[in-house]
Amino acid sequence: MTFSRAIKIAPSILSADFANFGQEIRAIEDQGCDWVHVDVMDGHFVPNLTFGPQLCKAIRPHIKTVMDVHLMIAPVDLYIDAFCEAGADVLTAHVEAGPHIHRTLQAIRSNGKKAGLALNPGTPAEAARELLDLVDLICVMTVNPGFGGQKFIHSQIDKVRALRAMIGDRPIHIEIDGGITPETAPLVAAAGADVLVAGSGVFSGGSVAKPQVYGQNIRAIRAAAEAAPR
Ligand code: DX5
Ligand code: ZN
Repeated sequence: MTFSRAIKIAPSILSADFANFGQEIRAIEDQGCDWVHVDVMDGHFVPNLTFGPQLCKAIRPHIKTVMDVHLMIAPVDLYIDAFCEAGADVLTAHVEAGPHIHRTLQAIRSNGKKAGLALNPGTPAEAARELLDLVDLICVMTVNPGFGGQKFIHSQIDKVRALRAMIGDRPIHIEIDGGITPETAPLVAAAGADVLVAGSGVFSGGSVAKPQVYGQNIRAIRAAAEAAPR
């Protein structure tokens, strides 16, 4: 993974057909996505349950691009090694998930993986300041985590701008997660984001039988983001 601030589209397989992950991943990659976003939820840190390291390991061989694993679990440290062994390229943990995020990020990096830090909508940009030397990605949640298909929270755009200024020249991605559409993508791209997660925004209207819809959705989000002044 060479660092670049070019716009990257990361479909969330939370919105894919859970009985068909292999084909769904092939479809979004054939249709031009850059990363594959995998939402891990524990029914405790967030009010929904998805999947664990075994599923990540099972889908890993199907991913040719980047496996971007978003952990919405607490406690998180117990599971870091398992998700690294499952093949995550980027492993992201929430600052709100426990008292020792610094240790968590160190553990991810010591496994040779890219470390991501996620911030809930109620958490200020300042929460990232002491962690900048330990992170490869900051994920700004633009919905409250737990479910796909929620409404984008506009107040987060100023936070993206503040984080972009805080990062300066450091090779740290800014990822946006939640409510990304061709309407919201340019707002966050202009504020400094480069990785755009989209669940419903990519998968709605398409299927493995109609993958060209995924392609249209990916291209529409990418074009809108790239047209924004950056
Ligand atoms: C929410 C997840 C997101 C979600 C985004 O907790 O982290 O990745 O799938 O879904 P959309 O794009 O539908 O808001
Ligand atoms: Zn996510």
